[in-house]
Amino acid sequence: MNEIIDVMVKRRSIRHYLAKQISNDDLNCILTAGLYAANGGNLQHPRFIAVQDPEILSNLVKTVREELMIQEIKEGQYKNKSIKAAQASEDYNFLFHAPTLIIVISDRSWGNSMADSASCLQNMQLAAYSLELGACWVNQLHWLTDTPSIRKIVEGLGMSPEEDIYGSMAVGCPANPLPSPPARKEGRIIIHR
Ligand SMILES: Cc1cc2nc3c(=O)[nH]c(=O)nc-3n(C[C@H](O)[C@H](O)[C@H](O)COP(=O)(O)O)c2cc1C
Repeated sequence: MNEIIDVMVKRRSIRHYLAKQISNDDLNCILTAGLYAANGGNLQHPRFIAVQDPEILSNLVKTVREELMIQEIKEGQYKNKSIKAAQASEDYNFLFHAPTLIIVISDRSWGNSMADSASCLQNMQLAAYSLELGACWVNQLHWLTDTPSIRKIVEGLGMSPEEDIYGSMAVGCPANPLPSPPARKEGRIIIHR
């Protein structure tokens, strides 16, 4: 394995962070990795909003909880676990108390916005791991992209009314050693030679 593939295989989602902020250089490296992600037609629609201001982060955490806790539990719904967690505790923190949040926004009318944003988020997660930082994709802001309270905050941070939130990631210094990778399911690769 070369170094890049090793990073891809060893990266893990991190959900426990130290209170320490990441360096400006590391943040810039992560954002640069996102900027250079493959994207449909090289139109470069995804944009990144990095948030490190504790007041803005705590307002986002509070608003996400308030919006999630009033959502309905529906059978088989992917976000049920997050809705239940938001209802169960005042301390629900979709960011796991990470000191940095990167929000990926993109043009709503562009059909590749989700794929492009995922490409950026994957690059940024790998970059974070390669810098010995931890990261975790957090989907709550994407679920809530049409919610007026969330739109108001994120538009205040630089999103335009023509853009939506396609994903976001928590970044920080991991509090614990990396977990082992979950086992890979069988039957996911088919090769015809
Ligand atoms: C589209 C997408 C959405 C995700 N949303 C969340 C999330 O909201 N909260 C969370 O803790 N992890 C989230 N994750 C991380 C996954 O849970 C994680 O990647 C998966 O469990 C595999 O673990 P690993 O990343 O350590 O390999 C998300 C990952 C992806 C790709």
